Amino acid sequence: MAAAAASSSSSSLKVGIVGFGTFGQFLAKTMIKQGHTIRATSRTDHSHLCHQLGVSFFRDTLSFLEADNDVILLSTSILSLSEVLRSMPLHCLKRRTLFVDVLSVKEYPRNLLLQVLPEAMDVLCTHPMFGPESGKNGWKDLPFVYEKVRVRDEPRCSRFLQIFESEGCRMVEMSCEEHDKLAARSQFLSHAIGRILSEMGIESTSMNTKSFETLVKLKESTNNDSFDLFSGLFIHNRFAQQELMNLEHSFEMVKQRLRRGTSEEQNLSKREEGTCKYREEVVETCRHREECREEVVQTCRHRKEVVRGYVVEQTCRYMEEVGSGSEEGICKYKVEIESVPVVVKACITYEG
Ligand SMILES: NC(=O)c1ccc[n+]([C@@H]2O[C@H](COP(=O)([O-])OP(=O)(O)OC[C@H]3O[C@@H](n4cnc5c(N)ncnc54)[C@H](OP(=O)(O)O)[C@@H]3O)[C@@H](O)[C@H]2O)c1
Repeated sequence: MAAAAASSSSSSLKVGIVGFGTFGQFLAKTMIKQGHTIRATSRTDHSHLCHQLGVSFFRDTLSFLEADNDVILLSTSILSLSEVLRSMPLHCLKRRTLFVDVLSVKEYPRNLLLQVLPEAMDVLCTHPMFGPESGKNGWKDLPFVYEKVRVRDEPRCSRFLQIFESEGCRMVEMSCEEHDKLAARSQFLSHAIGRILSEMGIESTSMNTKSFETLVKLKESTNNDSFDLFSGLFIHNRFAQQELMNLEHSFEMVKQRLRRGTSEEQNLSKREEGTCKYREEVVETCRHREECREEVVQTCRHRKEVVRGYVVEQTCRYMEEVGSGSEEGICKYKVEIESVPVVVKACITYEG
């Protein structure tokens, strides 16, 4: 294996991009402008576009890996990374190379890269927090998050980071775990809301308020990204599931507050306070409180389970079905319930 130092002699890098889709192409254009040499390989034949951009395109991953890259940049979809990496003859790499991923989740590629790459390879996990739309007028002040997971050739890693520093990015060094926690609360949430707005078919009107314009823009920008990207943000970020539940829960809370706004509702609330000694917990957890006032007492019977988490909300929602017999035969929402393990516990509670 050639000494790593040999690759650190000039500031121009040979970067091999795996996954030459929207984002791979977007990054390549700036790297080319900066004078780096770009090679690419991808599932689709992008040779025509590559020819126009001055990028060498390899259909064959073996030739790609043998092309003496300083850096291999992984820009596949989140969902396909594992399959793509495992299909590459990585043992054929002839020199120590810096592997960089740009996936929008971070713990997942970090774990995968540490698992499948030969020990001699350096690993830098990154997330440029912008895309072709938000970065179309330059990258100045846009955040670039990274963690040096296994970096021995520091100069080479710095030269790679310099690509983003020199464009004016705000460089943020943080752990992959911290990134995923924050991204679930910000990026995943905004994609989820954008997708919901799209489901609702919201469109610009002749009397848009500024806030509505923001919603229309959010809908448009999230829909410009692939659904694979959105799914990946959910499936491969362990914090996203909780945020989705928080979103559902908060939606229900807002609805309840709206409904409780009427004087009739306020009166009913007061009456209920007298009968249900666990009212506070129930108000927090039972999303269909108004609809299932009678069942509230039942919910209270299982107070300990109810306070354990939001998941019980889903049980509450289907509680007539769940409560009317054994979980196995009667619960017609069993399929949904199975997809959230904790709910199965709640279900069992209702059996009792
Ligand atoms: N778009 C953004 O704004 C943005 C911003 C930051 C980070 N990222 C990250 O960058 C990566 C690429 O994003 P993207 O916007 O280009 O869209 P994407 O839909 O997430 O990924 C498209 C890329 O994945 C490849 N791919 C998809 N399914 C595949 C499969 N089954 N086997 C092999 N390759 C497959 C595509 O290859 P072909 O082109 O050959 O079909 C294409 O190169 C993602 O990991 C994303 O999280 C995106």
